[in-house]
Amino acid sequence: MAESRNNRDAQPWSLRRRQHELTALERTESLFALSNGHIGIRGTLEEGEPRALPGTYLNGFHEQHPLPYAETGYGDPEDGQTMVNATDGKIIRLLVEDEPFDVRYGETTSHERVLDFRTGTLARSTEWISPTGRRVLVRSQRIVSFTQRAVMALRYEVWPLDADMQLVVQSDLLANEPIAPQSNDPRVSVALDAPLVPEFADASEYHAVLNHHTRNSGLRMAAAMDHRIETPHGLRTDISAEADLARLSLAVDVPRGERLCVTKYVGYGWSARRSAPALRAQVDAALAGALQTGWEGLLEEQRDYLAEFWSAADIELHGDAELQQAVRFALFHVLQAGARGESRAIPGKGLTGPGYEGHAFWDTETFVLPVLTYTMPEAARYALRWRYSTLDKARGRARLLGQRGAAFPWRSIDGAECSAYWPAGTAAFHVSADVADAVSRYFAASGDSRFDAGYGTEILVETARLWHSLGHYDREGNYRIDGVTGPDEYTAVADNNAYTNLMAQRNLREAARACSRNPRVAGVLGVDAQEPEAWSEAADHMFVPFDEAIGVHQQSSEFTAHAEWDFDKTGESDYPLLLHYPYFDLYRKQVVKQADLVLAMYLRGDAFDARQKEHNFIYYEARTVRDSSLSAAPQAVLAAETGFLDLAYDYFAEVCLTDLNDLHGNVSQGVHIGSLAGAWTSVVAGFGGMRDHDGYLSFAPRLPSALERLTFRLRMRDSLVEVQITPDWATYRLLSGEPLELAHYGDPILVTPDEAVSKQVPPLPGSARPEPEQPSGRRPRRRNTRA
Ligand code: BGC
Repeated sequence: MAESRNNRDAQPWSLRRRQHELTALERTESLFALSNGHIGIRGTLEEGEPRALPGTYLNGFHEQHPLPYAETGYGDPEDGQTMVNATDGKIIRLLVEDEPFDVRYGETTSHERVLDFRTGTLARSTEWISPTGRRVLVRSQRIVSFTQRAVMALRYEVWPLDADMQLVVQSDLLANEPIAPQSNDPRVSVALDAPLVPEFADASEYHAVLNHHTRNSGLRMAAAMDHRIETPHGLRTDISAEADLARLSLAVDVPRGERLCVTKYVGYGWSARRSAPALRAQVDAALAGALQTGWEGLLEEQRDYLAEFWSAADIELHGDAELQQAVRFALFHVLQAGARGESRAIPGKGLTGPGYEGHAFWDTETFVLPVLTYTMPEAARYALRWRYSTLDKARGRARLLGQRGAAFPWRSIDGAECSAYWPAGTAAFHVSADVADAVSRYFAASGDSRFDAGYGTEILVETARLWHSLGHYDREGNYRIDGVTGPDEYTAVADNNAYTNLMAQRNLREAARACSRNPRVAGVLGVDAQEPEAWSEAADHMFVPFDEAIGVHQQSSEFTAHAEWDFDKTGESDYPLLLHYPYFDLYRKQVVKQADLVLAMYLRGDAFDARQKEHNFIYYEARTVRDSSLSAAPQAVLAAETGFLDLAYDYFAEVCLTDLNDLHGNVSQGVHIGSLAGAWTSVVAGFGGMRDHDGYLSFAPRLPSALERLTFRLRMRDSLVEVQITPDWATYRLLSGEPLELAHYGDPILVTPDEAVSKQVPPLPGSARPEPEQPSGRRPRRRNTRA
């Protein structure tokens, strides 16, 4: 994996890129993407070029296309879905005298962009000399509003530096931007080539609107823009709108040292049902609201919203400036992905790029929702309501597969299964247990009984029904679930994946409990007295494979009997393995793409004792290659729990730097939201040792040697708790809300508003042990201590 020098100058609350970013735009466009979970815009330069990939996304707005199959089979999903690049509203072109402002020409004497995690803005400052020697300073600032979810706004300022100048600014709404095909399948490319069919365009004064619809998915979108202009002198403007382009042009003479300032407001909306006039009215209303709030007002709302978020979500690290920045960057992107999705999915890349076609995976429930549950519970609730809204499709999918209950899709935008590859698609049935787990976790942490009765119970019941029809009892009376794929996609269609079975076991039990909490709902769902009993019985007999001879759990039946992978013969450039070796070979060997049993030991830690955790961890470390960015965080958690704290820190650093240092080489396609969420998990569940047993939080904190102090916060029901860890002490404080009972290394403690509780961190038990080994070349980079 790529190496990086520790960046000691990293700013704690912002990400800054200077001049050199102009040669690496494809990365920074993703890192600098702004989103509120509803709208996402990539961090392209205002002038549109140079650029790698422009991108404006509206959560859920997608096109449909036939899925490619060499040979079709029963139950294969027919249609794929791909997020569409929507109308681009961030473009502002500038002509300096008669030359286009373009950093590829002339000379860029300084350039800087800053993403600020507290103001929620992306700011830019570029000083440029045109090829004919005219010097200007261009500054911009943009936001995608957290408080007005249909709105993005952009302020663009230009100063002529050495002489009076004529400036011309063109502010666009541009639909069907030409972009390089994102798929090798010609049918997908055809569907996504100019995917927006024009319906309506209008412009007057400083305002314009464009309406479009998609050809196949039948969705409609509207984008509208309006402007406020400040200039010292008279101004000439012109506005026009045609099918795919609306443009406000303005020309003005600006004396040296004075400035032209254009503030652009853009409103977005999309719908599957609303008419073109209704959508137009919707975006115009969004714009009216934004104009009334005004630029300064939007900035202030944004700051307040973020202050509230950070009050519950911030993580303070003392001892590592680069990771301090990285962990806040991670949390900022997780917030951006989930904040205002409101009953839409949280895609694997959020709304930061076209990677994974905009699909949502189990990443959401297993990696992202735990973070939101304890920091921004309403966002977690909305994301779960999206799953709920897709329940009928999941029931249909289960029926099609001859099963009962609901089978949630492996990858999707609107809830329909879009995976064309069974072994690393629908066969990963665990996604349904992951959804159920997120439901139970949210309910335990929030006590939200309206959600429990109105949504959660139904999800739990339908997923339990799936497990009860997928599994069967063998002759010995074990409950088995055969032919499924666990989190490790290098072992597919295997029997008794331990992770799946353990998560299904919890799902079955939680469903039975939910029915006794909500008997009326259970009645409506047709649950009789016997059904929960049958679930509990299956759960009690759930088979979890264990290899007695070597004393480790098997990731799935027979796993430890498979041939070993020859890691010594595998070169660094052979990773990720899926691109260099046939799947059949990966499937039949002991090589693990990503934490699977290790993830089970975190999420179902109650099913393993301490010795088993240590043995298992060491065994699977030696076989796990981390070809997925979802792997390092669970490995950090288990490394911390088993006392390998410096190794945990190395994994934590890898998680934090996955996107900032482009460790997987694909950040150009969007940031990895699940992995970014893992930064929080590594800290809170790893170094904080936090586990949630039915809403009762326990901690087993311990710092790696690199850190002097670590502080994090958690929301639990109506209380906000702060945990501060130093090498020898842990201090628990109630910042607001009701007193809360917690546990510190198994000892109950009560945090009250009156005083903080400090407890000693016990020394690491046992003698010094060698660190676990990873496959050759796959050890995480050793993080310098006290960087
Ligand atoms: C991983 C999956 C993950 C998906 C989307 C794959 O490479 O193996 O676990 O859900 O990426 O992030």
